[in-house]
Amino acid sequence: MDAISNGTLEESLHGLADSSIAKWPKWLTARSKVRFMHVPPFSLSKQLSELGADLDTAILKVLRSGQYIGGAEVQAFEESFAKSVGVSHAVGCNSGTDALILALRALEIGPGDEVITCSFSFFATAEAISAVGAKPVFVDVDPNNYLIDLNEMEQAINNKTKAILPVHLFGCPVDMNQLMKIAKTNGLKVIEDCAQASGAFWDGRPVGSWGDLGCFSFFPTKNLGAAGDAGAVTTEDSELAQRVRELAVHGMPRRYVHTQLGYNSRLDALQAAVLNVKLPKLHLWVKQRQSIAARYLELLKDIPGLCLPETINSIHMKHGWNQFVVRIISPFTHEIATNSDFPSSDAFECYPSQSSKPREWIKNSLQDQGVNTIIYYPVPIHLQPAYKDLNPNQISLPVTERLCHEVLSLPIFPEISFEEQNYVIDSLKGLLFQSNESHI
Ligand SMILES: Cc1ncc(COP(=O)(O)O)c(C=O)c1O
Repeated sequence: MDAISNGTLEESLHGLADSSIAKWPKWLTARSKVRFMHVPPFSLSKQLSELGADLDTAILKVLRSGQYIGGAEVQAFEESFAKSVGVSHAVGCNSGTDALILALRALEIGPGDEVITCSFSFFATAEAISAVGAKPVFVDVDPNNYLIDLNEMEQAINNKTKAILPVHLFGCPVDMNQLMKIAKTNGLKVIEDCAQASGAFWDGRPVGSWGDLGCFSFFPTKNLGAAGDAGAVTTEDSELAQRVRELAVHGMPRRYVHTQLGYNSRLDALQAAVLNVKLPKLHLWVKQRQSIAARYLELLKDIPGLCLPETINSIHMKHGWNQFVVRIISPFTHEIATNSDFPSSDAFECYPSQSSKPREWIKNSLQDQGVNTIIYYPVPIHLQPAYKDLNPNQISLPVTERLCHEVLSLPIFPEISFEEQNYVIDSLKGLLFQSNESHI
């Protein structure tokens, strides 16, 4: 249960002068009697109380079966997940990171090859490309939906480019019609990073069914979450599926015959059992996420200092809303940061900077009011210390770098209550109003 402690929102706004409160709009002061609440960014507690008995039964069944690796649960999950993605094959594996590595290896991408992707993503997107010995080539993203900029992507193609790795970031599907057209024209493979987008569709087709291979994560906070690490690779191509399957088991097509170096990356029977209980709920949970996002979009619109994620309103485009990410912008930080702002060889030291100040203030103040938010992502991948050899000063990704200073993920999970969401909205509106008044 989420704790509700004593005190009103009014009391929780530290250091706010009475004269300032007097200037608040009516809607805010009317709601300011709401009691102090703790709203987590994500919670599994309600989901667990609903599915607990089924999960207990499924887990006990596996424990009693003695079949902990492979077996009926894994096979059943792979079949039903492939069906839900609309492809012929799904191969379970250890994590979303491994799914990406296995997909890249199955396409024989390695040293000397370049893979185009974005730097505004979780580190694993690029890490997987580097792990197979290829070079990640980063292009910028669209500031409105945070997704790979397809024009820049096309311009980055050269004779070393082997594949494109788009990320359906925060659950928002990339325009796959356009992306596939560019890939086809240039003879490139496509690996979709669907880690955050289980249950999302582009143009009526599930993500993970468009490219040569789709890579999913079932990390517990994802739209479809296991009880630990788990992932899957989806594909229509039976040869690729077989290659992924062999690579995930030490490059072993037949027992004790190893035709290539692979990995130990199997999906556990216990994780498969948990996923089998949860998968039938996925589309309902995504629908609930969509309703929550729609309320945020409606109730937070037209507020100075706040940019909402842009979405295409279409029955064919189904956003997975794994995260609801807004941008906190300041009247004083409209200039776009460039790499010349990061002259240090240890670029990491430059974060957070002046440009993050309004976002940090909002985040900390929300936390004081019990609203927990997360920053996805505070540092772009190309400026991470691990990539210092890529010569980050020569990579120009102004939008990506700016987003890292401005983005903030508001609480979103299928079971968040209206009361909790209203509290988040009112708290954020109050703070933005206050910051616009005082020009923080
Ligand atoms: C976009 C993206 N790609 C890849 C991964 C890696 O997935 P996993 O944590 O299951 O290895 C994640 C996980 O957060 C992710 O968000």
